[in-house]
Amino acid sequence: MSGDARKTAAGLSYLTGFGNEHASEAVPGALPEGRNSPQRAPLGLYAEQLSGTAFTEPRAHNRRSWLYRIRPSAAHPAFTRTDNGAIRTAPFTEAVPDPNRLRWNPLPEPGAGTDFLAGLWTLGGNGDATQRAGMAVHLYHANTSMERVFSDADGELLIVPERGGLLLHTEFGRLAVEPAHVALIPRGVRFRVELLDESARGYVCENYGAPFRLPDLGPIGANGLANSRDFRAPVAAYEDVTGPVEVVNKFCGNLWTATYDHSPLDVVAWHGNYVPYVYDLRRFNVIGTISYDHPDPSIFTVLTSPSDTPGLAGVDFVVFAPRWLVGEDTFRPPYFHRNVMSEYMGLIEGAYDAKAEGFVPGGGSLHNMMSAHGPDRETFDRASAAELKPQKIDDGLAFMFETRWPVTLAPHAAAADHLQRRYDEVWQGLERHFRG
Ligand SMILES: [Fe+2]
Repeated sequence: MSGDARKTAAGLSYLTGFGNEHASEAVPGALPEGRNSPQRAPLGLYAEQLSGTAFTEPRAHNRRSWLYRIRPSAAHPAFTRTDNGAIRTAPFTEAVPDPNRLRWNPLPEPGAGTDFLAGLWTLGGNGDATQRAGMAVHLYHANTSMERVFSDADGELLIVPERGGLLLHTEFGRLAVEPAHVALIPRGVRFRVELLDESARGYVCENYGAPFRLPDLGPIGANGLANSRDFRAPVAAYEDVTGPVEVVNKFCGNLWTATYDHSPLDVVAWHGNYVPYVYDLRRFNVIGTISYDHPDPSIFTVLTSPSDTPGLAGVDFVVFAPRWLVGEDTFRPPYFHRNVMSEYMGLIEGAYDAKAEGFVPGGGSLHNMMSAHGPDRETFDRASAAELKPQKIDDGLAFMFETRWPVTLAPHAAAADHLQRRYDEVWQGLERHFRG
């Protein structure tokens, strides 16, 4: 952490819009005009394409960027295996899938000198990273800025800070992300995490599947939910560093390391639509009932990773943001539920309106496929008796990673000291009210 990093973060400028064809150059004239790969790229740079989708995917979903860099990415020595730390990858086969409702307290304090990568702790996941299907839930707790550079070939990383700001140095430039914001690092993009505060804690969805996109809006219309213009990509910024730089690459579940003789964050200019981005969750346009009942929480979807089945997401990122509840003759907290999809929930700040206690910022809950969940006893009793005046829910920011397949835990998550072993009790004592 440093005052310089805070100053840098505050002074950053951004390009706006989701999925746009952006273009940016840190040095005037670094971007070639009219072609991607001229015989000699401007300023002696190397031209390189980064393909995030297959060449031939439909234009609407095709993602790639052209990078103009001091050295080509190919200029590196062999990678060798390094320790995976607490990072695990699908397929998750070490533990038996657990049908129980599970909830965790926040991660414990990390040891001194723990950077973002060393502080990553996998809760569980599904699918198979080598098949580019499924997802993993990770948490992180770090107290040191990264000196090394990381990239993940297995998936894109949706970073959800809960405590502490981050300055992300990426190949495309720098992004600042604070709690209540999210950042996305595309598959394969190299980055380094600098801490803006003493420590940093939060969540990561590693999405092995199709890149996150904005959900279709259907009858909602042309606007609403997460608005495209609120997504921000970096402007080009580069490191011209000669000297040893450790680069760690996650590939098919294992970490590999190589020592470069230069920084790979040396992209002077770029253009394209395969970019890292940040989004402020407070910009989310929350849509809900103005008559009765709840829409299903899919109405709170920020980003979705579609599968080959229409409407069935590999994973959805959903936010429960401040909102008014006005439904008449309606049980207003989230309803009792069993779901073919599996739900991991985390809390960024405040409280969640279905749980009176025990679900705390930095913690999380997992309600796997068809597990019965819903409001706890205290919330049910209170909401069933409440006078139904318009009510503002403004003291919490919760989110969900909702995924098509059950989440199997990493063994260390099942055995963790911070797993709450009496979570079931929140649904005990729901009384029999039947008057048959
Ligand atoms: Fe649910």
